This record gives sequence, structure tokens and C-alpha cells, in this order.
Amino acid sequence: MKELIQLTEDLLTGVEEMDKDHAELVSMLNHTYQLLYEGKKQEAEEFFQKKILWYVDYHLTREEKFMESIGYPERERHRKAHENFRRVITDLAKHIETGNPNAFKEALALAWGWLAGHIGKVDKRYGEYAREKGLI
Ligand SMILES: [Fe+2]
Ligand SMILES: [Fe+2]
Repeated sequence: MKELIQLTEDLLTGVEEMDKDHAELVSMLNHTYQLLYEGKKQEAEEFFQKKILWYVDYHLTREEKFMESIGYPERERHRKAHENFRRVITDLAKHIETGNPNAFKEALALAWGWLAGHIGKVDKRYGEYAREKGLI
């Protein structure tokens, strides 16, 4: 399958578990698009509602625990940014309802813009911190 969005190298945090989570999320978003593109709207909706929303919550909680575990000083602000992300991803779900792959593709591009920005600018900083402290 052609990847619609990709986790490029510049988005790696250097924290293996978090990078794996991000890659999984990207692959799940691509999968949703693929299902819609194949006209499997029902399946796309179910996958998004049952798997992606669950996974996002799982990842954000895991990331917050990780930041806590290394005593990362910016974790409170980071947690607030995650609240925004929950909104961005919920908005994306609305575009699956239309069953229009192009509408979803556009919304996904916007959501991915936000997410890539978050990973590249916000997530990467805990990676730098962990590296500076010799924790990874
Ligand atoms: Fe984050
Ligand atoms: Fe993250």
C-alpha cells in the first residue's frame, strides 16, 4: 500500500518506544485512508473508533508516564498540548462519516500537519532532555 503520510527520520525522538508508537499511529492512519479509498466506509469507521482512538489515548498516557519517569520539567505544558491533539483526532473522525476519501485525505493532511509539528517540536524535546541526562 502506498503510504499517504510518513514518519520521516527528522521526526524521530530517539526514545525507541515512543518512536514505535508514532510509527504505529502513522500506519493506522494510512490504513484508515486505504479502507475509505477502497469504499469500505463501515470498516474505516470501526477501525478509527475502536482502534485509533484507543491507541491515541494509550500513546499519550504512555508518553506522559515516560516524561514523569525521567522528571522532564516541561511535562505539564506537554500534557496540555495533548488535550489539543485529542480534539484534532476527534475532528478527523467526522470526515470518515462522509465516506469521501478525498475529504478524509484533506482532513488527514491537516491533522498530520499538526501531529508532525507536535512530534517534531514538542515530543523531540523530551528526547533531547533524556539524551542530555544520559537516560537513553
Ligand atoms: Fe506528545
Ligand atoms: Fe507522541
